[in-house]
Amino acid sequence: MPVLKTLTKVAKQVLQSPGCGCRPSVIPVRCLGVSPRQVASDASFHSISFSETDHPRVLITGGLGQLGVGLAKLLRKRFGKNNVILSDIRKPPNNVFHSGPFIYSDILDFKNLREIVVNNRITWLIHYSALLSAVGEANVRLARAVNITGLHNILDIAAEHGLRLFVPSTIGAFGPTSPRDPTPDLCVQRPRTIYGVSKVHAELMGEYYHYRHGLDFRCLRYPGIISSDSQPGGGTTDYAVQIFHDAIKTGKFECNLKPDTRLPMMYIDDCLRATLEILETPADALSMRTYNINAMSFSPEELVQEIRKHVPEFQVTYNVDMVKQAIADSWPMNFEDSNARNDWGWKQEYDLPELVTTMLSFLSADSRLAHAY
Ligand SMILES: NC(=O)c1ccc[n+]([C@@H]2O[C@H](COP(=O)([O-])OP(=O)(O)OC[C@H]3O[C@@H](n4cnc5c(N)ncnc54)[C@H](O)[C@@H]3O)[C@@H](O)[C@H]2O)c1
Repeated sequence: MPVLKTLTKVAKQVLQSPGCGCRPSVIPVRCLGVSPRQVASDASFHSISFSETDHPRVLITGGLGQLGVGLAKLLRKRFGKNNVILSDIRKPPNNVFHSGPFIYSDILDFKNLREIVVNNRITWLIHYSALLSAVGEANVRLARAVNITGLHNILDIAAEHGLRLFVPSTIGAFGPTSPRDPTPDLCVQRPRTIYGVSKVHAELMGEYYHYRHGLDFRCLRYPGIISSDSQPGGGTTDYAVQIFHDAIKTGKFECNLKPDTRLPMMYIDDCLRATLEILETPADALSMRTYNINAMSFSPEELVQEIRKHVPEFQVTYNVDMVKQAIADSWPMNFEDSNARNDWGWKQEYDLPELVTTMLSFLSADSRLAHAY
């Protein structure tokens, strides 16, 4: 009977919960266990100077992918090197290992995650680990484990320790029945990839934990992200990164999407800045917990035209990958992001011409350097 009473009380609390800024009603705590594992973090990470004590203590999961290293660099500039830990299950390259704290963390290992959060007094958790769209379709079982079971671990740890949690979502969280031009924040979401399904699940679970447990969950739906110094991790928008490398290296590119496939895109600096901005926005300014953000929208043929303004002899052929094309055809062509602009002042700095100039100048400087050695 007491159990029934408690359940009824909890159900009432959920139904009556005010929606945001609510105090945690019941925090899900998994069985406490003692792990023999030691966190292999740099000892200096534990000795914080007084000026650093007001800063968040940040853990980035899946930090060795396309976005994590750049985000760590940005956050370290703002909060101090030792306040931001990168983690992954892969071995970091030398330059990353020596640029600040790095530790091994498998998000499927709940105790290991908890140990890291406790030992390092983490206050912000940025959850980047995921299998992206094309890779996920090739290994659905692993994608389900990492993107769904792993997320559950992250949510429980974040709720248990009162962390601010950022989880990125994607244009892939929409599907063929969503409005595609433009796609608003709130509309039908019936994606047909395991990646998309797992990201809708993440959005809904994060919001549920927010309303149910008071978790400070924040989520941005990133467009395809374009970067010069990090390789993409197997998504459908990867062509828009590879094309710049090939334009500089060989002057030729084989595109795996049709020339008129229009998708929302963003330069990495805008994406990382948006992430920091939403994390720093006071909770009462957020009218929602999951926002679209956009910067530009283009097709391969439009991107090629823009690149040819700088590399006139650039040759492009099309050899369509049917899996990627089917995914792209079900995704938004344009993203409606007025809520982000109104609530916390989101504004991109890079449009298509600026993106192309920046990418080509970075990569040509790199290739000149490489030839000099
Ligand atoms: N890059 C984009 O264009 C883009 C667009 C929209 C959303 N996102 C989202 O942003 C986040 C980061 O994207 P990215 O491009 O850097 O991804 P990525 O694929 O390049 O990197 C993901 C990282 O997760 C790690 N990982 C895999 N399994 C793990 C596990 N069990 N435990 C810990 N780490 C594990 C991988 O080793 C990898 O380094 C992802 O959640 C992705 O869905 C990215």
